[in-house]
Amino acid sequence: MGLNALFLGYGRMGAALGEAWLTAGLVDGIDAVDPLRAQDVKARIYRQAADLPATRYDLVVMAVKPAMAREALSALPASQLEKATVMSVMAGVSIDTLRAALPVQRPVVRSMPNTPVMVRQGCVGLYAGNDVSSTLRDTLTRLLNAVGRAFWVQNEDQLHAVTAISGSGPAYYHLFSEALADAAVQLGLPRDLARQLAAQTALGAATLQAQEGADFAELRQAVTSPNGTTHAAIEAFEAGHALRRLVHEAAEQARKRSVELAGG
Ligand SMILES: NC(=O)c1ccc[n+]([C@@H]2O[C@H](COP(=O)([O-])OP(=O)(O)OC[C@H]3O[C@@H](n4cnc5c(N)ncnc54)[C@H](OP(=O)(O)O)[C@@H]3O)[C@@H](O)[C@H]2O)c1
Repeated sequence: MGLNALFLGYGRMGAALGEAWLTAGLVDGIDAVDPLRAQDVKARIYRQAADLPATRYDLVVMAVKPAMAREALSALPASQLEKATVMSVMAGVSIDTLRAALPVQRPVVRSMPNTPVMVRQGCVGLYAGNDVSSTLRDTLTRLLNAVGRAFWVQNEDQLHAVTAISGSGPAYYHLFSEALADAAVQLGLPRDLARQLAAQTALGAATLQAQEGADFAELRQAVTSPNGTTHAAIEAFEAGHALRRLVHEAAEQARKRSVELAGG
């Protein structure tokens, strides 16, 4: 594809994206600035921006902790950004803040990935302003589809909701699996079997949900015969809409916290 990418920060998230792109041959090469990262990756690692070659990068990925964003960008010479699109994976750093930190005006894209990008099953929310062409959007969609699925949102504010649903979401499913495994132990199963039943059931249910045209309620009803075992369990979850209320409340709390962390 002929893309030259620079990563500022090559930690868990940066390396998950960059190594997947290199493995899939979606980029020609990746230079990454990261002070501590060991050399056990395909990207070329530089300890500091001053050591980078004088490349004019096509794509600059910001993957440091949000507090380090300004420092990381200000260490780059403007010439290296001359033709670059800047994509941030940093939670809560606005497009305006990123633009203000850039030494030159360049198109800026925000993304909100989640941890399953590490196993190429991520969910990535994307937002860009009008300065990002549809060709660029297609390129970024292709890159992020290599680590899962990419979804564009219409306004930047919606990234708070994406953070609350898919950004934090893997932790909700992990919590449910913890609870399900604990329940299995309580019902007399050994801990290791309980863990495996919970994990395999989550994977199977997710695979059904990911099928084209899948309807969550229909999938649920397909397991729920009248007065059967599933019905008994669902009655407990649905009593007073307990589970749904809790999920709504949890998502709202996460969205509120995302706004607070962004300084809103
Ligand atoms: N992990 C997630 O699930 C997730 C989800 C969505 C978004 N994100 C975003 O992804 C970003 C990175 O998170 P992460 O989990 O990948 O963190 P991480 O593993 O700590 O990676 C950040 C890397 O950047 C390096 N770094 C620090 N200062 C730098 C500088 N000035 N120049 C270049 N590199 C520098 C760090 O090195 P040191 O360790 O030496 O400081 C570290 O290796 C965050 O902004 C986060 O909001 C993460």
